Amino acid sequence: MKNTVICPGTFDPPTNGHINIVERALKIFDHVIVAVAVQSTKPPYFTAAERVGMLKTIFENHPNVEIDQFDGLMVEYARRRNVHKILRGIRNVSDYEFENQMMLANRALTPDIDTLFMMTEGQLSHVSSTIIREIVRLGGNVSSMVHPVVEVKLKEKLNKES
Ligand code: COA
Repeated sequence: MKNTVICPGTFDPPTNGHINIVERALKIFDHVIVAVAVQSTKPPYFTAAERVGMLKTIFENHPNVEIDQFDGLMVEYARRRNVHKILRGIRNVSDYEFENQMMLANRALTPDIDTLFMMTEGQLSHVSSTIIREIVRLGGNVSSMVHPVVEVKLKEKLNKES
């Protein structure tokens, strides 16, 4: 049986921090499912189709990475996919507090699914999707923080808005 993990997130947009976690996960797991949450607590900037599209391009040369999307509870999605391991990146103490709470809630819902955590690489710990969108909006350069396809999509979206 394949050793599979789900990397869930909003990916609005995907950052080099997300990519780093998936690439490191590939050294531990045979198959990584990058699962895009269609809805989020905040209204997403990119549509689910746009986020899935960017991730498919980013990982097009990684046959062991599957890009999928889900709606509703993440643990229900994991159960449907028959995967019992979730992987999340942690950047700092505030991420830890939020992730710990989410992990405990998910365990209460589905005790047979475990969440594993990986510390984000130090040079990426300042990166966040919100900060990236803000820098692009104000004309700054985000090439060290995102894949080129994401940079292009951010600029396209900004041009459409103006
Ligand atoms: N390095 C750098 N930055 C990272 C990172 C990493 N490794 N991993 C995440 N980030 C950043 C993202 O850029 C993003 O930045 P932002 O706060 O400015 O938007 C932030 O951390 C978190 O983003 P991401 O990991 O993409 O998604 P999320 O935390 O919004 O995802 C879900 C949360 C989707 C996993 C969660 O809400 C979920 O499971 N939803 C479905 C409903 C559900 O089951 N809820 C839980 C019930 S307990």
